[in-house]
Amino acid sequence: MDIKRVFLVGFMGSGKSTLGRRLKHEMGWNFLDLDDVFEDKFQTSIKQYFADYGEESFRQAEKECLEDVIHQENLIIATGGGTPCFFDNMDVMNENGLTIYLKLSIETLISRLNSGKNVRPLVANKSGDELYQFIKEKLEEREFFYNQSKVIADAEVLGVEAFVNIIKASGD
Ligand code: S3P
Repeated sequence: MDIKRVFLVGFMGSGKSTLGRRLKHEMGWNFLDLDDVFEDKFQTSIKQYFADYGEESFRQAEKECLEDVIHQENLIIATGGGTPCFFDNMDVMNENGLTIYLKLSIETLISRLNSGKNVRPLVANKSGDELYQFIKEKLEEREFFYNQSKVIADAEVLGVEAFVNIIKASGD
């Protein structure tokens, strides 16, 4: 297999981190969650960073985090929901590994983002119609980027074994 890294791409709540941890276990690769890389590097929560410096600064800092880790090998990276949609991040990821879009229906995303305490600054404080409208609009805007992934995976139905097979097959 000559693929050196896998980038999991998709909306908040699409299961990138959960899948990434399972793939780490199945494949014996390293796993990084870009949100954790961010919080380690800047020693603050993403929510607090947004509150202190705003989204524009967050996007610049997030890009730096991507650049910090992008040359590691045998690595699965769960990107943030917005990572592929800013600067040339999507091209950079496509040049450096296998990008996989975890595609889910809006209904599934809503049910996941509605449940529990939400630390994500873009959706915290939103619920009901406001959350639905927000996700619908953001997803439409972001799918332009997500769809540039090398693999578009139906994450409603695919299990971890299917993802392992996709990754192995793409390195043949
Ligand atoms: C964001 C998604 C979050 C995090 C930040 C912004 C987004 O990551 O990077 O809150 O713009 O969609 P997850 O997709 O891991 O929740």
